[in-house]
Amino acid sequence: MTAVRFDDLDVKGKRVLVREDLNVPLEGGRVTDMTRIDAAVPTLRSLSDRGAKVIVMSHLGRPEGKVVENLRLAPVAEALAQALGRPVRMAPDSIGAAVRAAIAQMSDGDVLLLENLRFHPGEEANDPAFAKSLAELGDLYVNDAFGTAHRAHASTVGITRDLPSYAGPLLTSELEILDRVLLHPERPFIAVLGGAKVSDKIGVIDRLLMICDAIVIGGGMANTLLAAQGFDVGKSLRDSDLAPAKTIVHEIEHEAAKVDVHLPSDAVVAKELSPDAETRDADIDQIAPDEMILDIGPGTAMDFRGVILEAKTVLWNGPMGVFEMDAFGAGTEAVGQAIVDSGAVCVVGGGDSAAAAHKFGFADKMTHISTGGGATLEYIEGKELPGVAALRSTAGA
Ligand code: 3PG
Repeated sequence: MTAVRFDDLDVKGKRVLVREDLNVPLEGGRVTDMTRIDAAVPTLRSLSDRGAKVIVMSHLGRPEGKVVENLRLAPVAEALAQALGRPVRMAPDSIGAAVRAAIAQMSDGDVLLLENLRFHPGEEANDPAFAKSLAELGDLYVNDAFGTAHRAHASTVGITRDLPSYAGPLLTSELEILDRVLLHPERPFIAVLGGAKVSDKIGVIDRLLMICDAIVIGGGMANTLLAAQGFDVGKSLRDSDLAPAKTIVHEIEHEAAKVDVHLPSDAVVAKELSPDAETRDADIDQIAPDEMILDIGPGTAMDFRGVILEAKTVLWNGPMGVFEMDAFGAGTEAVGQAIVDSGAVCVVGGGDSAAAAHKFGFADKMTHISTGGGATLEYIEGKELPGVAALRSTAGA
C-alpha cells in the first residue's frame, strides 16, 4: 500500500480525483439503498474539510460504453449531497472540455461528481488514453472504491500510472477487517453461506473449507449441493450443471472432513414463488416434483442457530431463502438473530445479506457490512484485487 497515509496528504487547494463505488440500486430515479453512499461520506467530507477540490468518479450499472439515460448519476449526486450535508454539483461528462471548465470553477472544499464513467468504452477496457484524460482532471488520485477493486478499469488501474495515487480510508478499512477475519479469526470461525449459485462461489467455498471451523449453507446454493448428493429438490432453483457441486460435496465428505459442514435437513416449500403462495415445511427427502425450496425449514434454522451460537467470528454471505417475501424470510431472520446473539465478530459481505441485515434490523449490530459484492468474494477466495495491486506500484508509493 502507499507510503503516505490518506490522513497525512496535503490536499489544500488541490484537485483530488476520488474513485468511489456509488453503484447503488435506483427505483423510479431514487436511490433505494444508501449503504455505499453513506460509506463514502467520511472520505469525501474529510477531503472537503481539508480544502481539497473533491472530484468524485463512479460507475453506475453496465451501460457498456454508451450513454444510457436512466444510468445517469444525477440521482446519486442528490443523495450524496443529502448524506454529506453540502452541495454536490453534477458534471456533464467524465472527461472533456466541459468537465475541465466545471473543475476550473471549483473553490476549495467544493464537491463535483463526474458522470457515469462507463458511458465511455475506455473505462472498462482500461484504455490508457481514457485513463490519461481522467488523470488530467486532477493533481492526485485516491482510490476508495473497494466494491470495484476487483475490476481492472481505467479509473481503478490505468489512472495510477499517470497520477500520484493513494488508498482511501474506506478501501483500507474494508481490507483490514477482511484480513482480520480471514487471517487471524478468533475461533470458532463459522461461515454462513447462501445465495443463488454454487458455481459463482466455488473458490470461496474452497478457501473457507481451509480456514473455517464450520460452515452452514442455505439458499439456492444448498439446493444445488443437495441435488448433487442425490436428493430430489423438485422445481427448486439450482445450478443446471451439477459437476462443480459434486466436487464440493466430495471435498466436504472426504478431504475437508475436519470442517463441520451443515446443509438443510428441512425446508419451506411452495408450488409457486409468490408472497401468498401456500407453503409447507418438508423434510429434505420429501419434496414433491412440483414443489420448490424457498427457505430453510424450522429444524434447519434451529440446527444452524446451535452452530452459530458457538462462534467467535462469523462471515455471512448470502441469504437462506427468498427473504424479500415474508413467507420465505424466517430462515434468514433466524440466522441473522443467531449471529447477533452469538456476540461474535461478524462481517457481512454481499448486497443481499446486507439488505437482509437491514430488513430485519440487524445492520447496526453487525461488526461490519462490506460495501463489496464481487470484490469481497474475490478477496475471500484469496485473489489479488487489481485496484489494490495498482496502488502498490504508483507514483505515490
Ligand atoms: C458491484 O456492484 O459489485 C460493483 O459496483 C462492480 O460492478 P460490476 O459487477 O458491474 O463491475
